[in-house]
Amino acid sequence: MKVVILAGGQATRLLPLTSNTPKAMVPVLNIPFLEYVIRHLGRHRVTDVVLAQSHLAQTITDYFLDGARFGSQLTYVVETVPLGTAGAVKNAAGYLDETFLVLNGDTFTDLDISAMIDFHRQTRARLTIACTPVEDPSSYGLIETDGRSKITRFLEKPEKSQITTNMVNAGTYVVEPEVLEYIPAGTVFSFERQLFPKLLERGEPLYAYPSPAYWIDIGTPEKYHQLNRDLLSGKSNQYPFSSTQRVTIGERSQIHATARITGPAVIGDSCAIGAGVSLIGPVVIGPGCTILEETTIEDSIIWQDTRLEKQVYIKSSIVASGCHLKSNSIVENSVIGNNVTIDSGYQLKPGSKIGPGAVVKNADNQ
Ligand code: GDD
Ligand code: MG
Repeated sequence: MKVVILAGGQATRLLPLTSNTPKAMVPVLNIPFLEYVIRHLGRHRVTDVVLAQSHLAQTITDYFLDGARFGSQLTYVVETVPLGTAGAVKNAAGYLDETFLVLNGDTFTDLDISAMIDFHRQTRARLTIACTPVEDPSSYGLIETDGRSKITRFLEKPEKSQITTNMVNAGTYVVEPEVLEYIPAGTVFSFERQLFPKLLERGEPLYAYPSPAYWIDIGTPEKYHQLNRDLLSGKSNQYPFSSTQRVTIGERSQIHATARITGPAVIGDSCAIGAGVSLIGPVVIGPGCTILEETTIEDSIIWQDTRLEKQVYIKSSIVASGCHLKSNSIVENSVIGNNVTIDSGYQLKPGSKIGPGAVVKNADNQ
C-alpha cells in the first residue's frame, strides 16, 4: 500500500527551530523526525512512500534520497505553492490508484497501522481516520461518531463550547481512490475544513479508528521537547537505542572522568565533555558538541555542533545547531534557534525564543 506523507507545512508554531530546518527533519534523539515515521510504516510493510513537500523541500530529499537506506522507495512531489493538506494529496494523484494511506508528517505514533487497514476493509469505509484521546481538543480536529465508529461530524479546531468529545483526528487516514474526485486540482484544499465535511454531506461512509497507542503532534517546541522526553522514558516502543542503556554515548565522544551523567541521556558522536560537567536527564546532546568545565545541562535538548563554555547553566530548554553559549550564561525554559551566540554571564529571560543568528549581548558590552 502506498502512503502520502504531508511534509509541506510552514511550521510557524515550531519557530525558531524550523526557520531553516523543515519540521520533518528536526532531530529526535539525534535522528530526523521523519526517519521514525518511515521506519514505523516499514514495520507495517508500507514501504512505497510519496512525500508531499513544499517548504524547505531539498533538505528532506538530500537526507532520504531514494529511501533504500531505510528499506523504502521514496517519491517526492513538490508543490510550487502549498496546496493545503488535501490539495497536496490531489497533487500526488498520479501515483495513487488503489487504497492508500495519508499521514500528517508531524505526528509520532505507535499506531497499529496494519490493524487500522484491516478495520477499514471490514467497515467498507470510503475513508478511515485514526483518532486519539487528548485532554484539550481545541487545537485538533474533533471527531464525533455514532455507537459503531461511523463518523457523524468533523470539526476542525473547535471552540471550547463546541467540544463534545475528547477524540480527535490523529492525522493518519486510509483512503479509497474515489475520494480524490472530491478534491479540486491545483487549488488550495483542506482535508479537515473542506473534504471531510463535504464527504459527510454526501453520505460517504467515514469511520473512526480509535487507538490508545502513544501519539503526539510535534507542532510546538513544548510538544517536540515532550516527544524527546517520552522516548527517553520509554513511553513509546520506538526507542532507537538499546533500551537497557540509560545513557547512550556516540562514537568518538570524549567524556572527562569527572563529568557526571544522570540518565536518561543520549550523547551524539564526536562530542567533547569537560571536567565537572553535569548532565541531568532527560538530556539529548547532538553530535559534534563541545561542553566545557563545570557546565550543567538539565532536562534539555542541544542540537549538533554547539559550543557551551565554562559554567553555563541550561535547564528545560532547546538549543539548536551551531550555537555558542559563552561562560556563565544561563538559559531556562527557552528555545534558541541555529547559530545564536549568547554572551558571557548573560541570563536569558525564562520563556525566551531567540531567532537564528542572533547575538545576545549584555547591555554593558554593546
Ligand atoms: N505538502 C503539504 N502542503 N503539506 C502540508 C500543507 C501543504 O500545503 N499544509 C500542511 N501540511 C502538512 C504539515 O506539514 C503537517 O505535517 C500536516 O500537513 C498537518 O498540518 P498542521 O499544520 O500540522 O496541522 P495541525 O497540527 O494544526 O492539525 C492537523 O493535525 C491534527 C493532529 O495533529 C489536523 O489534521 C487536525 O485535524 C489534527 O487533529
Ligand atoms: Mg500538526
